[in-house]
Amino acid sequence: MLVIGLGYVGLVQAAALAERGHEVTGIDIDLDKYNSLRNGRVSIYEPDLPELIKPGLKKGHLTFLHLSEIKEISVPLIFIAVGTPSLPFNGNADLSQIQSAIQWIKDNIRNNAVIVMKSTVLPGTGQSLINKYLKDSRFSYVSNPEFLREGQAVYDWYHPDRIVIGCQDQEAGKVVSSLYNGIKAPVLITDINSAELIKYASNAFLATKISFINEIANVCELIDADIELVSEGIGLDSRIGKSFLKAGIGYGGSCFPKDVRALDYFSSMNGYSFELLKSVISVNNRQRSLPVKKLKEALGDLNGKKVAVLGLAFKPNTDDIREAPAIDIINMLLNEGCEVRACDPVAVGNTKKVLPSEVKLFESLPGAIGGAQAAILTTEWEEFVNFDWTSLNDIMSPPRLIIDGRNALRHCIVQNPDLKYVGIGRGIK
Ligand SMILES: NC(=O)c1ccc[n+]([C@@H]2O[C@H](COP(=O)([O-])OP(=O)(O)OC[C@H]3O[C@@H](n4cnc5c(N)ncnc54)[C@H](O)[C@@H]3O)[C@@H](O)[C@H]2O)c1
Repeated sequence: MLVIGLGYVGLVQAAALAERGHEVTGIDIDLDKYNSLRNGRVSIYEPDLPELIKPGLKKGHLTFLHLSEIKEISVPLIFIAVGTPSLPFNGNADLSQIQSAIQWIKDNIRNNAVIVMKSTVLPGTGQSLINKYLKDSRFSYVSNPEFLREGQAVYDWYHPDRIVIGCQDQEAGKVVSSLYNGIKAPVLITDINSAELIKYASNAFLATKISFINEIANVCELIDADIELVSEGIGLDSRIGKSFLKAGIGYGGSCFPKDVRALDYFSSMNGYSFELLKSVISVNNRQRSLPVKKLKEALGDLNGKKVAVLGLAFKPNTDDIREAPAIDIINMLLNEGCEVRACDPVAVGNTKKVLPSEVKLFESLPGAIGGAQAAILTTEWEEFVNFDWTSLNDIMSPPRLIIDGRNALRHCIVQNPDLKYVGIGRGIK
């Protein structure tokens, strides 16, 4: 089988299928990615992925090729896992990578085959791809949306909450569903549109939970309540659940922001104004500016102030900085005239490509925080949370203000009376 696109989704899909004994060829259009994979280096940071890939390569079940190296082959199953980023002008999903992958399949695959869409595409996309490219062809089309979380993608592949298979051709659906035999998860067989919408609705709901708890956090600040306790109290209700009720600087990453925008756009295009989603987006945008607002409240004019930004990846355990709150926050600090130093254990390489060189980047916390008057926690990496915060008195400059954008540090900071702590939804303590 073939996996087209070797990013976070495609690489995990290819490696896991190979681990289960299938013959898998992973192809990508990106020469750098291809070269590093060919040289045994996994081009992204994803825990457990190198260990999953290695045996597949060794046993010969897994091969990586550049797109241009394959011509006119026969293969029964083709997974598409290319990107579907936002179009810059309206939030719609950009399908150009999908379209070129489908065209490539039509030009190069010689036999009857099932095309399995792992990429996130808006409802109706599968049907229009079938109408435009695949009608009366030798290809069947199955939607099999991906729900993995970066940072635990390998675990999620083997322990999904559900497997969704959207198909018209029931036989093709059965073939795809049989690939997951032995995985303990409900398999939901649907039509293609419903499968596509399940993916968007899931991401939109999770984003809504985050924006909701952030709104409650902002109310907490007005009445001097503690969002952490409020959130615990809400989450203990089994109808609500504990997950995604962590207040902070909002969601980021390569999925939630673009998928929420795309569903909003899609709804508008279908004549429906999805008010809730519009608010989710604007709450999330506002939340990102909170650390800078809190910094100004505490320090006054920020011009010339040294500020450390702790964390660049959009969440811990990934090097993915796509739509990471830290990047926006750094740009806001630069606009205020701050001298910015930032650190991340694995995302510095990716960040160098998007930030001006005046931002000094470090892989560990002490380098970034040295001499800073304030620090903002933007990603709750374990090494930041477990850092010896009592050791900062001599390293930081007064007033040694820590803005905890992820509400992860209070228990560490309160032990050090020389640091000033400001969380989200819990006031100045
Ligand atoms: N990253 C996640 O956590 C996640 C989770 C669930 C679903 N998804 C969805 O899965 C899809 C892929 O996401 P990702 O994060 O893996 O993307 P990614 O950007 O990391 O990887 C996509 C890869 O596809 C390659 N590519 C683009 N066009 C190609 C072509 N014509 N032929 C061959 N390769 C091509 C790119 O070079 C890139 O390596 C997206 O639709 C995304 O929304 C992502």
